[in-house]
Formats: sequence, C-alpha cells, structure tokens
Amino acid sequence: MRCERPVVEPMARRLEHKLGGYSLPVRVVRAPAEELPFAEESFDFVISTLVLCAVEDPGRALAEIHRILRPDGRLIFLEHVRSDEPGLALWQDRLHGGWVRVGHGCHCNRPTLENIERAGFSITEIEHDRLRRAPPIVRPLIAGVALA
Ligand SMILES: C[S@@+](CC[C@H](N)C(=O)[O-])C[C@H]1O[C@@H](n2cnc3c(N)ncnc32)[C@H](O)[C@@H]1O
Repeated sequence: MRCERPVVEPMARRLEHKLGGYSLPVRVVRAPAEELPFAEESFDFVISTLVLCAVEDPGRALAEIHRILRPDGRLIFLEHVRSDEPGLALWQDRLHGGWVRVGHGCHCNRPTLENIERAGFSITEIEHDRLRRAPPIVRPLIAGVALA
C-alpha cells in the first residue's frame, strides 16, 4: 500500500528489518491511522505505543481504531500525555510549537486519555507513570486498556 504520509516510513522500515530475523506470519501495512484500510469489526486488539501523540488528527485515528475493533475488542495503549499538574501543562502549552518541530510532529500536550474516552471507549485498566530520561514536557505517561 502506498503511504501518503512519509512520517510513517522510517519506523515501518525498522520494523520490517527486525521482523526479518523471525519467521512470524506478520504483514507490515503502511497506512495513516486516520484512514485504516481494514473492514469494520475485524480486530480483537489494537496496540498503540507513542503514536497518538504523533498522528495529525487523534479524534479521527481513535474513531478508526474503534471502527475496526470488534464490539468487545480492546485498545492497549502506552502514550505520553498532557500533565494533570497545571504548572507542567502550562509549560507543555508554551513549548508545544517548538517541540512539534524538533520532535518530528510529536504533540506534547494532548489529553489522550480523555480523547480515548471521547471516541467511545471505556477504560478498564489505567496506570500513570513517567517516561524516564525524557524532557519534562513529555514525561507524563499513561498505560492501559480500553474496551471498544
Ligand atoms: C514516537 S514514534 C513511535 C513508534 C513505535 N510505535 C514505538 O513505540 O516505538 C511515532 C510513530 O507514529 C507514526 N505516525 C505518525 N503519524 C502517523 C499517522 N498519521 N498515521 C500512522 N502513523 C503515524 C510515525 O510513523 C512513528 O512510527
């Protein structure tokens, strides 16, 4: 599949390189998260690690994930997010524009947990943590499971 957004390519190549060492029945599909080329209700699980900070339109990406999951399917996520501490959230907003440029399109201030719930998921497991060895504005981390 042709990739409309070149940002997807470098990680896809790394993944293919790593998979080359294993004999797994895996297919790497290049596609924007906002337009997933899969039928409705066709997956049991979607795993998203540090992607919802980077997509252009998180609302559309989450709607797509919801669409392709079966009714009892699960989104498993690990994402850095907007801080719950007002002081840090203010710095995330202030530095957001510069961070998007140096961070290859990464948004440091997204309320991803709220976005997941807004897309119609129910959070069944959630842990709040810190991304170690990262600048403070991208440290607040969530890991969890959301039911479609
Ligand atoms: C910080 S990297 C994380 C990569 C990997 N998931 C990980 O945890 O190491 C962000 C990823 O989001 C992907 N990405 C950015 N915008 C995207 C979009 N609109 N659709 C699909 N993937 C996108 C990039 O290609 C990149 O692989």
